[in-house]
Amino acid sequence: MSNIDPSGTFTLGDRKVRRLGYGAMQLAGPGVFGPPKDRDAALAVLREAVAHGVNHIDTSDFYGPHVTNQVIREALAPYPDDLVIVTKIGARRGKDGSWLPAFSPKELTQGVHDNLRNLGRDVLEVVNLRIMFDMHGPAEGSIEAWLTVLADLQRQGLVRHIGLSNATATQIAEGRRISKIVCVQNQYNLAHRGDDALIDALARDGIPYVPFFPLGGFSPLQSSILSDVATRLDATPMQVALAWLLRRAPNILLIPGTSSLAHLRENLAAAKLDLPKDTMTALDGIAPNVRAA
Ligand SMILES: NC(=O)c1ccc[n+]([C@@H]2O[C@H](COP(=O)([O-])OP(=O)(O)OC[C@H]3O[C@@H](n4cnc5c(N)ncnc54)[C@H](OP(=O)(O)O)[C@@H]3O)[C@@H](O)[C@H]2O)c1
Repeated sequence: MSNIDPSGTFTLGDRKVRRLGYGAMQLAGPGVFGPPKDRDAALAVLREAVAHGVNHIDTSDFYGPHVTNQVIREALAPYPDDLVIVTKIGARRGKDGSWLPAFSPKELTQGVHDNLRNLGRDVLEVVNLRIMFDMHGPAEGSIEAWLTVLADLQRQGLVRHIGLSNATATQIAEGRRISKIVCVQNQYNLAHRGDDALIDALARDGIPYVPFFPLGGFSPLQSSILSDVATRLDATPMQVALAWLLRRAPNILLIPGTSSLAHLRENLAAAKLDLPKDTMTALDGIAPNVRAA
C-alpha cells in the first residue's frame, strides 16, 4: 500500500498508473534552462516521489535541455518496472533559453533519439507531440505531417504510445485518425478551465487528460475562496487545488512540479484530502465552468 493509493488509478497507454504523479520540469535551472541549483536535492525529490508510490513522471529532453532527463536517469535507473515516463517532442531551446518549434522530420526524429539516450531507454513509453502553433495555448492547424513522422517512429519500435499536448479538440480528432492517442496534456487548473468540455469528452472515451500547470505554473494559484476552503479543511491551498482536480474527473492524471522535498510531500498528501460537496461547489465558483451544455 503506497501513501498515494487514495488518489486511485487510471490506464495510461496499456499501464495502470496512480493518478497522483510528478512533473519534472522544475528540476532544471531557472527558466527551465541549465542545471538544477541543487542537483542532490533534485535526485532526492525524484527518489522520494517514487518511494511514495508515484509511477507516472512527466518530462522532456528540452527541459534543461537534456538536464532533466539526465537527472531522472541518475536518480531512478534501473527504472522500477511499473514506472511510466512520459516525454514530449516538438521544441528545442535557443542559446538564450528561448523555446523554438522543432517539427521537421529530422528534428522530431532527433527529439525521440535525444530522449532515448538521455533517459537511457530502448523505447519511450509515451511521447506527446507538443503542438506550437501558439506556444501559450491551443491554436488550430493541421498536425498530420508531424504526427505521421511520430507514428513512423512508433512503427520502428522507438515509441510505444503517442499523446498530444497543447491540442484543440479538432487536432485530437485529426490525430486519432492517424494514430491511437493515449493522453492529452493541456493547461488546466482551478482558475483556467478552457478545457472543461474536452475533459468530459475524453473521459467518455477513456483517454487520460493530464493538466499542466495544475498549481498555476509560473504564477501559483491565488484565490480567497481557495484559501478559505484550505483553512476549513486544515490543508494548504495547493493541496486543495490538487484534490479538486482529482475529483473533477476520473480521467485526470496529476503531474504537479516541484524542486522541493517539502512541497513534494505536501502535494502527495493531497491524495488523502477529502473535499466535501459544498467545498467542491465553492471551488467550482472560482472560474466559469465552460462545459458543453
Ligand atoms: N506540455 C506542456 O506544454 C507543459 C508545460 C508546462 C509544464 N508541463 C509539465 O507539467 C508539469 C507541472 O507543471 P509546472 O511544474 O510547470 O507547474 P505547477 O505544477 O502548476 O507548479 C509548479 C510551481 O509551483 C511551486 N509549487 C509546487 N508545489 C508547491 C507547494 N506545495 N506549495 C507552494 N508552491 C509549490 C513550484 O515551486 P517549488 O519548486 O519551489 O516547489 C513551482 O514554482 C511540469 O513539471 C511539466 O512536466 C508541460
